[in-house]
Amino acid sequence: MSTKKYNVGIIGYGWAATAHIDAINASSQAQVTAIYSSRPLDSATLSAKHGGKIKAYDTVEALLADPEIHVVDITSYPSQHCAQAVAAAKAKKHIILEKPMANSMPEVIQIFEAAEKNGVKGCVCFECRFSSQMEATKAVIDQGLIGDIHYGEVDYYHGIGPWYGQYRWNIGKKDGGSALLTAGCHALDALLMCMPGEVDSVTSFSTKSKSEYFKPYEYDTSAVTILKFKNGAVGKCAAIVDCLQPYYFHTHLVGSHGSVLDNKFHSAKLNTNKAQWSGLSMKMLDSGDVSDHPYQAQFQAFFDALDKGQDMPLTSFRDALRTFKVIFAADQSAANGGQPVKVA
Ligand SMILES: NC(=O)c1ccc[n+]([C@@H]2O[C@H](COP(=O)([O-])OP(=O)(O)OC[C@H]3O[C@@H](n4cnc5c(N)ncnc54)[C@H](O)[C@@H]3O)[C@@H](O)[C@H]2O)c1
Repeated sequence: MSTKKYNVGIIGYGWAATAHIDAINASSQAQVTAIYSSRPLDSATLSAKHGGKIKAYDTVEALLADPEIHVVDITSYPSQHCAQAVAAAKAKKHIILEKPMANSMPEVIQIFEAAEKNGVKGCVCFECRFSSQMEATKAVIDQGLIGDIHYGEVDYYHGIGPWYGQYRWNIGKKDGGSALLTAGCHALDALLMCMPGEVDSVTSFSTKSKSEYFKPYEYDTSAVTILKFKNGAVGKCAAIVDCLQPYYFHTHLVGSHGSVLDNKFHSAKLNTNKAQWSGLSMKMLDSGDVSDHPYQAQFQAFFDALDKGQDMPLTSFRDALRTFKVIFAADQSAANGGQPVKVA
């Protein structure tokens, strides 16, 4: 029998799911009690592997019909997210949803509206917002140490080639989507966390490496987006999934009283020497491995918010909607050869 308050059903039992299950089970209020996969799974094997009592389902409908499940966690292929999330909302289940929410803006809106209409809460896996790096960076900003930010860039460099498990589906337009949707969304989302003003318009260009590794991709695997904010500030986000280098989550924020560059900063407010950086001690976002991702802190915040009947901080459906509006506008701009696109 369940011992915690929220029973969670996993939809899509792949790589991300394994990290999610550990993070959910480590939370104070929730445990995984059901898993759906298109592959046949055995309840006893799943229970032995992950602990607790887990029931295997072979259809999403049967899992959603289970009244004992309060939350579903969707870690399936991106092209399946919309139908599954809308069905979950209609079944009155709260939703954890892996990024991208979906691979088109109408689908993202459909998910958002289904959750609103059915009174369920959402958590989008932009877990970087809960990372040590972004939490410390945000704290420096919120303390006013770099003043008002007028320029910021957050960039994502991570080569997703044949050596990477996701490559088999990521190369296709249907599930990979674009450089921003499949991976760069984390950097764009982090930029929008650091620069909370409204985005007026975006201009984006995209290209592709000549390396054989990335040839099978059906879309451009490098994109750079310039963001014009309504308050006059400017931002930039590079989304590069066809590089041959270590994973790098580049952050450079420039304000009226100083700057943050990755794990370094200068603040005129502290009267330190501006010819040298000061250090920020934090764990860097330096890997695409799901076992390194701060899902636990994120899911704990989600379950804490569910306890209060509130939207979660930082990565609610509403927060993510703002990010996806910018992403889809950027992809539209890149498709039109870099013509500026207004963000609705
Ligand atoms: N937030 C992050 O940083 C992060 C990290 C990794 C993945 N993700 C996201 O999580 C989602 C799933 O990605 P993933 O890396 O877990 O993908 P995955 O390929 O491991 O699994 C994806 C889906 O495929 C199914 N699957 C896997 N192998 C299968 C097989 N042999 N036969 C049939 N079905 C199979 C799984 O059950 C799952 O539904 C995607 O939306 C991805 O973008 C996000």
